[in-house]
Amino acid sequence: MAEETTGEGRGFDTIAVHGEEGGDPFRALTPPIYMTSTYTFPSMETVDRVLSGEEEGFVYSRSGNPTVRQFERTMARLEGGEEGVAFASGMGAISAVLLSWQKKGTPFLFSRHLYSGTRHFIESMLIPLGATVRFVDFRQGPEAFSRLAEALDEGACGLFLETPSNPTLDLVDLEATAALCRRYGVPLAVDNTFASPALQNPLLLGADLVIHSATKYLGGHGDLLGGVAVGGREAIKSLRSVEASLLGATLSPMNAWLILRGIKTLALRMEAHSRRALLLARLFAGNGKVVRVLYPGLSDHPGHGIVLRQMKGTGGMLSVLFRSAETARAFMDRLRIIRIGVSLGDPASLVEHPASMSHRGFPPEVRRSLGVEEGLVRLSVGLESPDDLCRDVEAALSGLKG
Ligand SMILES: Cc1ncc(COP(=O)(O)O)c(C=O)c1O
Repeated sequence: MAEETTGEGRGFDTIAVHGEEGGDPFRALTPPIYMTSTYTFPSMETVDRVLSGEEEGFVYSRSGNPTVRQFERTMARLEGGEEGVAFASGMGAISAVLLSWQKKGTPFLFSRHLYSGTRHFIESMLIPLGATVRFVDFRQGPEAFSRLAEALDEGACGLFLETPSNPTLDLVDLEATAALCRRYGVPLAVDNTFASPALQNPLLLGADLVIHSATKYLGGHGDLLGGVAVGGREAIKSLRSVEASLLGATLSPMNAWLILRGIKTLALRMEAHSRRALLLARLFAGNGKVVRVLYPGLSDHPGHGIVLRQMKGTGGMLSVLFRSAETARAFMDRLRIIRIGVSLGDPASLVEHPASMSHRGFPPEVRRSLGVEEGLVRLSVGLESPDDLCRDVEAALSGLKG
C-alpha cells in the first residue's frame, strides 16, 4: 500500500522503521529519550557557536530536543518535506500555523468541512482577534473552484483544508487546489490526520504545509497527545522559533519517542484499518436501517475518484447516517466491542455521535451547515478481528427500530 518512496530513495516502510538513524554514541537500536529541560555548554565559545547556528546543538527543550527532533525529521521524510516541527497536540500545530499566517485585513480561507476544534478555534480566537474568514464548500465541485479563484484573487493569507474531512469524509482534489493556490501565491495547509502519511502526502501534490494530530494514527495506540507541521525549511524555522517556542505548546520527549514507536507500524496498521473499514462500510450500505454511508472506499462516494488518484488506501474512518439522533444513539448503545468515545486512529474501534459529542457546542443550524446531521454516527474502525467487528455491527443493527 505505502511502497512509494517519499525521501532519499528509500521506501516509506524503511523510513518509518528506521527513522533518523545514527548519532547515538552507544549505537542503541531505538532512540534515547532525552528527558531534559535544558542543555549545558563546556564554554562560552560553544554557546556562541550553537546560538549562531554554526554548530548543531540544543539550548532549551521548548525550542528543541533531540528525541523530538528525531520525530520531526522522520515526519519530514515520510511527508516529503524539508523540515518538521512538533507540538503538544494537533490543536497546538493548527493554532500555531493559523496564528503565523495572520496579516491584518487579509482574509483566511478554510474548507467548510473541518474538525470541530479547528472550527472552534476560528470562532473563539481568530475572529475575535479581528480576522476575516471565508469558507469554501468543496462539495460544490467546479463551482467551488471558481469561488476559490475569486477569493484567492481578492487576496488571502492562506487556505487551510482537511481531506478526508472529519466527520463527513469529504474529499478535496489536492493537486487542483494546490495549483490554484500557487497561481495566486497563497499558501496551502492540509490537515492530513485522517489519511496519515502512509496513505496521502499533500506536499508531494503541491501543498505548502501538512499538519497532523499525532494523537491519532501516528501514535496509533490511544495513549498520548501530539501534533506536527511539516513543510519548507523557512516556514518551519519561523514556526519553531516564533509560534511553537513562544506559545509553548511543544511536544514532550517521552511522547515523541512513543510516536516514533507507533510510526514503525503505521503502514501496516493503515492497511488493516482500511480493510476493516471497507468491510463495515459494505455491511452498513446493505442494511435498510441506514440512510447513507460516508466512506470514500465505496464506489458511489462522491470523492471515490479523488481517493483513487491521490490516496494509497481508503482509511479507517467512516460515518453512517441514521434517520434520527434517537436511532443513532440507540445503535451506539447496542454495540459491545466498538466503544463509545471521541478520538480515532487507535487499535480499539471507537464510535461517536457528533451532534451529542464533538459538535455538541454548535447550534443545530451550524451543525447542519457543516454537514453534521442529527443522525450521523462516526466510526474509527480499529484492529479487532474483522468477523467480531461485523458481528458487533450486525447485532447492533438488528432489532434497531429504524
Ligand atoms: C482532523 C483533526 N485534526 C486535528 C485534531 C486535533 O488534534 P488533537 O486532539 O491532537 O489536538 C483532530 C482531533 O480529533 C482531528 O480529528
